[in-house]
Amino acid sequence: MKTTEQYRPLFESIALPNGIELDNRFVLSPMITNSSTAEGYVTQEDLAYAERRAASAPLQITGAAYIEEYGQLFEYGFSIDDDHSIEGLKKLAQAMKKDGAKAIIQLTHAGRFSKISLKDFGVVYGPSEMRLKTPVEHTVLPMSRRKIRHVITQYADATRRAIKAGFDGVEISSAQRLLIQAFFSTFSNQRDDEYGPQNIDNRSRFGIEVMAAVQEVIDKEAPADFLLGFRGTPEETRGNKIGYGAEDFLYFMDRIMEVANIHYLATASWGKNIYKQTIRQGKFKGEIMNEKVYEHIGGRIPVMATGGINSPEKALEALQFSDMVGASTPFVTEPDFVTKLKEGREAEIDLGLHPEELADLAIPERAFKDLVELMDIGGSLSEASRDELRKLYE
Ligand SMILES: Cc1cc2nc3c(=O)[nH]c(=O)nc-3n(C[C@H](O)[C@H](O)[C@H](O)COP(=O)(O)O)c2cc1C
Repeated sequence: MKTTEQYRPLFESIALPNGIELDNRFVLSPMITNSSTAEGYVTQEDLAYAERRAASAPLQITGAAYIEEYGQLFEYGFSIDDDHSIEGLKKLAQAMKKDGAKAIIQLTHAGRFSKISLKDFGVVYGPSEMRLKTPVEHTVLPMSRRKIRHVITQYADATRRAIKAGFDGVEISSAQRLLIQAFFSTFSNQRDDEYGPQNIDNRSRFGIEVMAAVQEVIDKEAPADFLLGFRGTPEETRGNKIGYGAEDFLYFMDRIMEVANIHYLATASWGKNIYKQTIRQGKFKGEIMNEKVYEHIGGRIPVMATGGINSPEKALEALQFSDMVGASTPFVTEPDFVTKLKEGREAEIDLGLHPEELADLAIPERAFKDLVELMDIGGSLSEASRDELRKLYE
């Protein structure tokens, strides 16, 4: 069967700035499945999950790989913090690439949100000191300049490992409150040096230096068509207070593009229907976030919309102000979403989770502990599906 006329725009190919051509506009967006070992090594369950989704989208991004233990967010996430991880990551890259997709690994440091660092070491790092009471009383250690340089080196080393593992690219994520965002945010950065909040260039500095270091490794060691992506949250607000506004974010993106040849920008945030979220504060208040980002980027690189895109109609809607559409949780229960849509079988797309499908879906059963509550935030899977997932570990 042929693609239904109205959905054809989603199946137009797209060339990334390095010449890599993708068959359609869908992206398998990052989502940790919490199924690696406690030491951060890739498991058979990780591989089976990735293989089952190898044909889900022509561009695929792994869940967060942590670049050091102090940056670890998920208990059973996977690490890229030393060379021992390369062997497992090689297998993961192969599994994702099995049907011709391009596989990108996401490199992350969760900063003060590194739950596992807090659990294991009793501390977390951030741009500046904070004394917090939840989930337990703890101190956010301010990063010394030396520690900043150390983390930048870790991003570079992780990039080197990603190349060795055979990934087609790396994505640096600043989004959803990770460390790069924390430096950029006036909420969590109270430093008084050149990385502090005194002006936007200082707040941007850490992110810019990470991107420059990653680019340098790519220039020296990666194949010519190696991809570099960036994922960011275009605005940070608390009530009517602004951690940073959309106009700051767009400035940040322009500076990043001066030091790094990024091949796409993915936008992301926590919440429902993020793909069409409006800007909450500042000059662009009320405008659709992705529309503003898309307009500002102005075709220099593709923009990827994510968050809440769980139906063909929403994918089409998101494509009005983006070049690619990313979905994370929908592929958990419907890895064949894109294939069905391509073949005009959209009526068969089913995001429900039926117990008899579990084996075919290769869902790692123990894994979804701690994860479903994150899925509750976005709500792209129905409550019934999320309850089925909860049953797996209750
Ligand atoms: C269980 C779970 C794990 C996630 N892991 C990651 C991750 O590793 N890296 C990341 O950038 N985003 C992660 N996210 C955020 C998603 O990429 C995405 O922003 C969110 O799920 C909304 O998109 P969706 O409606 O397509 O699921 C995660 C989300 C969930 C629910």
